[in-house]
Amino acid sequence: MIVRGEGCELVAAEGRRLIDGCSGLWTVNLGHGRNDLVKAAGAQLQTLPYLSTFGGVSSPPAIELAERITALTPGLSGVFFVSGGSEANESAIKLARRHWIHRGMPQKSIVLAHDRGYHGLSGVTTTATRLRAYHPDFGDPAPDVVEVPAPYTYRCEAGVPCDPAVCPICQGDALERKIEEIGPDRVAALIVEPVFGSGGVIVPPAGYLRRLREVCDRHDVLLIVDEVITGFGRTGTWFACEDEGVVADMITFAKGVTNGYIPLGGVVLSDALWDELRDPGRRPGYLMHGFTHSGHPVACAVALATIEAIEREDLLVQVGESSELLADAVAPLRDLPEVGEVRQAGLMVGVELVADRETRQRWPVEAERGRRAAYAARDRGLLTRGLLDDILCFAPPFTISEQMLRLSVEILGESIAATGDLHAEPRV
Ligand SMILES: Cc1ncc(COP(=O)(O)O)c(C=O)c1O
Repeated sequence: MIVRGEGCELVAAEGRRLIDGCSGLWTVNLGHGRNDLVKAAGAQLQTLPYLSTFGGVSSPPAIELAERITALTPGLSGVFFVSGGSEANESAIKLARRHWIHRGMPQKSIVLAHDRGYHGLSGVTTTATRLRAYHPDFGDPAPDVVEVPAPYTYRCEAGVPCDPAVCPICQGDALERKIEEIGPDRVAALIVEPVFGSGGVIVPPAGYLRRLREVCDRHDVLLIVDEVITGFGRTGTWFACEDEGVVADMITFAKGVTNGYIPLGGVVLSDALWDELRDPGRRPGYLMHGFTHSGHPVACAVALATIEAIEREDLLVQVGESSELLADAVAPLRDLPEVGEVRQAGLMVGVELVADRETRQRWPVEAERGRRAAYAARDRGLLTRGLLDDILCFAPPFTISEQMLRLSVEILGESIAATGDLHAEPRV
C-alpha cells in the first residue's frame, strides 16, 4: 500500500521507498508533491469549484486552457474537454461519425484501429483497444470497428525479420489495402497511438505516422492521434505528432495534462471540425454530447499550472537529455539471454522478454514471466509494470535524476536475471 509520493518516489505504508518507474500509469510526469499544482487547485476551488461546459457556459480556466493547448497544436483550433483518455477517444469517434452524418454519409462509420493499440476501456474504445485479453469477459464487440496490423517490427505480421523500408505494414500499404477492401465510403476514421504504450511500447519506424496521414488523405478518412500517453512531453515534444510533422484531424489527450493530480482529458479538433461544431446553421445545431465534468474548472486550472511548469522548468529539453542517458543505460539489457528486444521512444522503454531469442518464442502465459520480474523489481525498490506478453515498461517522471535513472535500469536488469529460473522465486 502506497501512502505518499515525494518527487520521483513513492513511500509504502511500512516506510519503504520505491522509484515510481512508470510515473503512475504514464501520468505523473512532473513527479509527486508539487506545490505549484496544489496551489493552483486550491485557488480555483475557492473561486469556482465546479462548472460543466455541457450546456452553453464556460469558465476562465477552461477557455484559457483551450487557448494554451491549441497554441501548442498547429492546425488544430478547438478543444472538447472530458475526464480521461477513454472518454476522449470515445468522444473523438463520436465526433468523427457525426462529421460524416452531417455530410450526408451516415454509412461512413467504420473506425480502423491498430492491432495491439490501447485506446481505453469504455464502450467503443474497449473494442478499439486491440488487445485480446480485454475482450472476452464483456460480450459482443462494438460494431463498425475494424483492426489493421501494427508496425510491430519485432513480430511483423508481414514477415520476420522486418525491413521497414519495404514492409507493407510499415509503409502504410496494408492500411490502404484494407480501406480499399472495405470501401472508403464506409471508413470514418483511423485511430493510432504515435508510440503504442500498453500494447508493449511499440515504436513505429520513422515516417509511419506521416504515411498514415497520406493514406487517410487519399481516401477521405479522418486521422485521430491518441496522445493520451505521449502528449505533454513524454517523447520530448509537446505532442508526438510534431516529431513527424503531422497535423491530425483530432488529437486526444489525458493523463499528463494535469500530471495525473486530477482527472482531465480532451479532444483537440482541426480547424475544419471545429468550424463545423460551431456552425449554428447545422442540424441539429447542438452537440448532443458531453459529461458532468466536461471542462471542470479545477482540473483545467491544474492543467494550466502543469503546462506552465513544463515551460518554466524547460522540461522538454530535460526529456531530450534524459532520453539519451536512458538509451545509454538500457543498452546492456540487450545482452541478457532472455531479452528479445529493448525499444525506446523518449522517456518510454519496453523490454520484451522471450523464452527463446532465436525463435522469439514467448513464455507460456502461466509462467507470468514479465510479472515475476516486475515483482522482483518492486522488492528491490523499483515500481514497474509487466505489460501483456512479458513486456516490462519503464517510463519515469521527466524530473528523474541521472543517478536514479541508472539505478532503476540496474534494478530492472537484476530483476530479469534473478527471475530467469521459474522456480527460484515464489509468485507474489
Ligand atoms: C494511449 C491510451 N489511450 C487511452 C487510454 C485510456 O485512458 P483512461 O484510462 O484515462 O480512460 C490510455 C490509458 O492507459 C492510453 O494509454
